[in-house]
Amino acid sequence: MARLVIVSNRVPVLGRRAQAGGLAVALQSVASPGTLWFGWSGQTAHETSSTPKIGEARGVSYATLDLSASDYQHFYVGFSNATLWPLFHFRTGLMRYSRDDYAGYRSVNRSFAEALLPLLRPDDLVWVHDYHLIPLAEELRRLGYTGRLGFFLHIPFVPPAVLQVLPPAAELVRMLCAYDLAGFHTRRFAQDFLASAKDLAGAQVTEDTVRLDGRVTSVGAFPIGIDPAAFARSAVRAMETGYIARVRESLQSRALIVSADRLDYSKGLPNRLEGFGRLLARFPQHHRKASFLQIAARSREDVAEYQSLRRELDRMTGDLNGRFSHFDWVPLRYMTQMVQRPRLAGLFRMARIGLVTPLQDGMNLVAKEFVAAQDSEDPGVLVLSRFAGAAEQLRDALIVNPYDSDEIADAMHAALEMPLEERQRRHDSLREAVFQGTAAQFCASYLEAFQAVPI
Ligand code: F6P
Repeated sequence: MARLVIVSNRVPVLGRRAQAGGLAVALQSVASPGTLWFGWSGQTAHETSSTPKIGEARGVSYATLDLSASDYQHFYVGFSNATLWPLFHFRTGLMRYSRDDYAGYRSVNRSFAEALLPLLRPDDLVWVHDYHLIPLAEELRRLGYTGRLGFFLHIPFVPPAVLQVLPPAAELVRMLCAYDLAGFHTRRFAQDFLASAKDLAGAQVTEDTVRLDGRVTSVGAFPIGIDPAAFARSAVRAMETGYIARVRESLQSRALIVSADRLDYSKGLPNRLEGFGRLLARFPQHHRKASFLQIAARSREDVAEYQSLRRELDRMTGDLNGRFSHFDWVPLRYMTQMVQRPRLAGLFRMARIGLVTPLQDGMNLVAKEFVAAQDSEDPGVLVLSRFAGAAEQLRDALIVNPYDSDEIADAMHAALEMPLEERQRRHDSLREAVFQGTAAQFCASYLEAFQAVPI
């Protein structure tokens, strides 16, 4: 059996405090003993390390590199999160591009390849994750590595008309073609990659392959999932804790509406608060009867757009509560610290509505966690953006266009009024989808396709 080598920018060490974000959630469950996990240590140092620090937890080896302050700035803050992130979320107006950032991005990928190569065996399955590391395969190939290299993108991919806004768009597409398998969350993202390879790099494409410079890359859709049984168990356990008892007491029998996201402009937080404001303005029967808890875990605080989003949300929260609060009811509870996953599971289970309305999202695992956490006898309702990859599978959620705050308000109203039988019917179908498309199943289907690609 070939060894699995996972390469990702963030390296979530097993048993340590969980990080926010889909990658950590989904991949932690597949790192089995014997796996090597390589990536950034999360630390900055005087210089970018040339040899990794090696550690081990629960049989998984971890090899991590520190980044210099300048590499962190250009690679992580700059090209990854101020260029690629907005671009791949269709926000070209927020995209900032500089040649220095791009050079930093390339150079960190080169350093990763040089530090990783001595750890690799020819028959490893090297599985690279996410937009930070698109050039890694090309760098490893340049150093002579001939083994299998696979890539999975955890965020959306865009059509060529959007991608071409990026000055080195064609180069980026060519770099993706240095992998043997390129995986995306949905069929649409895979098709957008195929179209970009054809239009921007002149590649020959079929339904599921790209041929460029004599190399063939297989392309596929692999919807990521969670470990629903474990999350459901954790939700049940949480109900017996003092934390959930305190939340319950503070709610005073009011319906809980819950959202949990990284504080990120792709998550549609201002639109969602606007939607809640429209609910309260148009349906006064819910005043004092519902409480909205928005958890927005602070994220990427060195990127300017995230700082201005935080200021905007502070202002909106104050406006909304100032407008609708009574002395004994504050409609919106807004917090920016991260909540530990077992507590989150309990909050989801006690909620009447899970509000998941990103403007654009590769998959969105919070939607799947909300479903897994529900009590099938008395389930809450999922309100889900049509622009989350999860909407392809979770068709029995109340699907909304997150740009229309009145549509969000209508869905929240419908969810608050929904009879038990309809909630159960919708939940049964959502539950089936979540329990069928698990993290384990995602990994198994990717790795099966990966092992089958001819090299
Ligand atoms: O899911 C996309 C993603 O960028 C992951 O790669 C990452 O772990 C997560 O979001 C959190 O972002 P960051 O690593 O920038 O804190």
